[in-house]
Amino acid sequence: DRISRAPTRIGRSVDEITGSRRLRRTRKADWSRRLVQENRLTVDDLIWPIFLVDGENKREPLPAMPGVFRLSVDMAAQEAKRAASLGIPAIATFPYIDHALKDQTGSHACHADNLINRGTRAIKDAAPNIGVITDAALDPFTDHGHDGILRDGVIVNDETVDQVVAAALSQARAGSDIIAPSDMMDGRIGAIRDALNADGFQDVAIMSYATKFSSAFYGPYREAIGTSGLLKGDKKTYYLDPANTDEAMREAEQDLSEGADMLMVKPGMPYLDIVHRLKETFAVPTFAYQVSGEFTMIKAAAANGWIDGERAMLESLLAFKRAGCDGILTYFAPDVAELLAS
Ligand code: PBG
Repeated sequence: DRISRAPTRIGRSVDEITGSRRLRRTRKADWSRRLVQENRLTVDDLIWPIFLVDGENKREPLPAMPGVFRLSVDMAAQEAKRAASLGIPAIATFPYIDHALKDQTGSHACHADNLINRGTRAIKDAAPNIGVITDAALDPFTDHGHDGILRDGVIVNDETVDQVVAAALSQARAGSDIIAPSDMMDGRIGAIRDALNADGFQDVAIMSYATKFSSAFYGPYREAIGTSGLLKGDKKTYYLDPANTDEAMREAEQDLSEGADMLMVKPGMPYLDIVHRLKETFAVPTFAYQVSGEFTMIKAAAANGWIDGERAMLESLLAFKRAGCDGILTYFAPDVAELLAS
């Protein structure tokens, strides 16, 4: 194509049409594509969510999440070491709580030696330089599977905030670096910040699940932590309506004003518009959670040979970066870290 002639069926030459602009020039070779690449996925972008279970030496496979396990605390500590050596900055823990420990108010969430807190201590012990992020929501601990306290069919806000604060304090005392409340109660961020400060935890950060949507993509997670059979009704009175963007902006603005250090959008892939708008508006550390259902879709399609699983994984994560994420919670974290290191 050294000399561009007007093809017979086009009235003008392509150079006349484009004004000699040819966007394919920079894409012509690998070196050139690398040179102009705007966004890049690195190991520093990864937060690895893991599931904890009571006992010892346990790795319970999860049928809907191939390659993901419920880990006993000793195994989680081992995996944390592996994650740290791969350069993964942080781990987020989620517990499968024994049914006998669940009640109406999720009181075990505040217990100093509960599974979350034992997990934090073991991980910090094994891998002191990896960040630990803990969720202060009550859902693993309530016998009805809701994130809050249920009274007469209503999730009561203020009483729940009180309990979430107690859970957050117990997590900070166990060594959690970042409290990430996912319950979407009004006022929880300010209440947690006050309580942390009063207890000497000024340096413990808060990552708000500021925009958590009422989503179908949480299914495999609820299997993983054993709440799917328990949940009565849905979470529409506290999670966001998937139809709403302005409401998400108000949630984020509110949480920042109450003291959130970082924002999270959840789920991830179907909500990249929210990520983008948050980042453009607030310019604060912004994260997204590529949730269980998103992970499962990629895994299932790949297992069927319908898509290239590795490429889909990398592309999905790069898309989070392009949308404005500073990091991504993803069950792919160790796989990606290994791939990026190779
Ligand atoms: C609830 C919570 C959820 C997830 C993490 N914490 C959603 C829910 O069960 O309603 C979902 C994570 C995932 O799907 O990977 N506090």
